[in-house]
Amino acid sequence: MLRYLTSGESHGQSLITIIDGIPSNIELNIEDINEELKKRQGGYGRGGRMKIEKDKINIIGGVRGKKTLGSPISFEIKNKDYENWSKYMAPMEDIYSQEKAVENVRPGHADLTGCLKYDFTDARNVLERSSARETASRVAVGAICKQVLKNFDIDFVSHVIQIGDVKDTNLYDFDFIKNNVDNSEIRCVNHNIEKDIIKKIDECKKEGDTLGGIVEIRVKNLIPGLGSYTHFDKKIDGNIAMHLMSIQAIKGVEIGLGFDVASSSGSNIMDEIVYDENGIKRKSNNLGGIEGGMTTGEELIIRCAMKPIPTLYKPLDTININTLEKYKASVERSDSCAVPACSVVCENVVAFVICKFFLEKIGGDSFIDLKNNYDSYIKRLGDRGWKE
Ligand SMILES: Cc1cc2nc3c(=O)[nH]c(=O)nc-3n(C[C@H](O)[C@H](O)[C@H](O)COP(=O)(O)O)c2cc1C
Repeated sequence: MLRYLTSGESHGQSLITIIDGIPSNIELNIEDINEELKKRQGGYGRGGRMKIEKDKINIIGGVRGKKTLGSPISFEIKNKDYENWSKYMAPMEDIYSQEKAVENVRPGHADLTGCLKYDFTDARNVLERSSARETASRVAVGAICKQVLKNFDIDFVSHVIQIGDVKDTNLYDFDFIKNNVDNSEIRCVNHNIEKDIIKKIDECKKEGDTLGGIVEIRVKNLIPGLGSYTHFDKKIDGNIAMHLMSIQAIKGVEIGLGFDVASSSGSNIMDEIVYDENGIKRKSNNLGGIEGGMTTGEELIIRCAMKPIPTLYKPLDTININTLEKYKASVERSDSCAVPACSVVCENVVAFVICKFFLEKIGGDSFIDLKNNYDSYIKRLGDRGWKE
């Protein structure tokens, strides 16, 4: 079973991750992993922290001579900012905790409930871990998963389709997104809308406010049958939603037409099935490539709504967690809009889920076993009329 664990605080020494279940003899390309980390750090609207960090993965175990060993892969991503924070964050030394204490808990963050639940008088003990810095680990995990799936031509892309009330309602071709998204500093492939969004972020930032938005993730060249209808926890749509909803600030996940299915009749929604020289295919993809908790082989279309960043430079009303007196919320150095970065996080989180279900369906301890099992499944599907 593919699984991973992450550890590390936002201003701690580093993020540590262990991923277990990657088969042996998969070639890893470190530049590609670092490229994903770099994309997560970018995007118009990010705060000062990302100017300090230059995230790079340092693989510690589970890989030899650029090939996976089949054993757990461990890696570290250093926090450069730790140099400035060691006297407040050192694990095993006396620290000056009061100097960086956060007591005026921020609405929308984990501060208040985290302090109540874990019995802290300083919300720094909460925010250091609840912070989205942790998503650097998740991006690196997804980047490793992508390198497994690349061998089977499975490809991923993500882009921003809405920030604040500025939205792009077009449904673009996968390759168009892939070829254009990295040229945009807000990961938006519609250049007319891009200008409006940048203006919106600037206005919002000037007012000390923040913005959320919607990102779209697409996966192509999938095979039918990842996930299963046989039990609730084997359904791939449920697993995708769980992993995406666990990303900081995600408040909604939809697949295919998502919430719009509710306002249409069945005859307008279901994707009609045809068989011709291209094999079994669909006339449309309204359901986003999943039926009965299984991939159909059509492209996956997933969207996530991110709420605006909760730390505001024009802070909202709150209380001091210890005195219970009324205060304005604490201000931590913060992004004003992190939707572009969030799209990179979502894409890599989806890559982990797809890889997990791919390995469960296809199986194999080594690359060659995986490849043989894959070819055998594709052949059997071919006998039933499905073509790649
Ligand atoms: C890529 C990314 C960057 C984020 N940056 C910040 C930030 O700079 N400041 C902040 O207050 N929240 C930021 N957030 C959101 C918070 O981490 C999140 O709202 C908080 O942990 C509470 O979790 P919840 O929104 O899921 O309830 C970011 C989220 C993501 C995905």
